[in-house]
Amino acid sequence: MHDATHTAPWTAGDHTPVDKVTLYTDLAAELDALLSDESDPTANAANAAAAIYHSLPGLNWAGFYLLRDGELVLGPFQGKPACVRIPLGKGVCGTSAETGKSILVPDVDAFPGHIACDSASRSELVVPLLDGDRLLGVLDMDSPHLARFDETDRKGCEALAAIVVRHLRRSVLT
Ligand code: SME
Repeated sequence: MHDATHTAPWTAGDHTPVDKVTLYTDLAAELDALLSDESDPTANAANAAAAIYHSLPGLNWAGFYLLRDGELVLGPFQGKPACVRIPLGKGVCGTSAETGKSILVPDVDAFPGHIACDSASRSELVVPLLDGDRLLGVLDMDSPHLARFDETDRKGCEALAAIVVRHLRRSVLT
């Protein structure tokens, strides 16, 4: 079936077609500005989840799992209610957290141990939130489209995660 959302040109908020690299560059600048005046970590993670969810096309879930006492606990997100606790090493999120690497899953049904929170999800990208060697949590994005995410998304979302970490770190220290 033709997948209109996945194949449509990437668009900015004013519906001008943009390339994906530009979309991520613009979103990174917007995110940095959005988080820069606030030091509360919950407020900043919540606004980051909303900005990502509403800026990147073809998502059904975007948000954070944060490291709490050795396991991932659901943080601010946009999308349907999700599983609350994920042990390190479990699912896509727990595997990304344990390895400290981003994981791009073109087909969630082909990822052993994938945790299905929303049955509509077909592909997923998880990026760890790393403050140097210290794991703060993960940024998780789900899509109802197969193979929604590619290497450009991985690099773009890693840049977004770095901005979120910088602001969360600032809030922890202040
Ligand atoms: N699919 C994830 C669980 C989180 S939800 O997608 C929001 C995983 O396998 O870790």
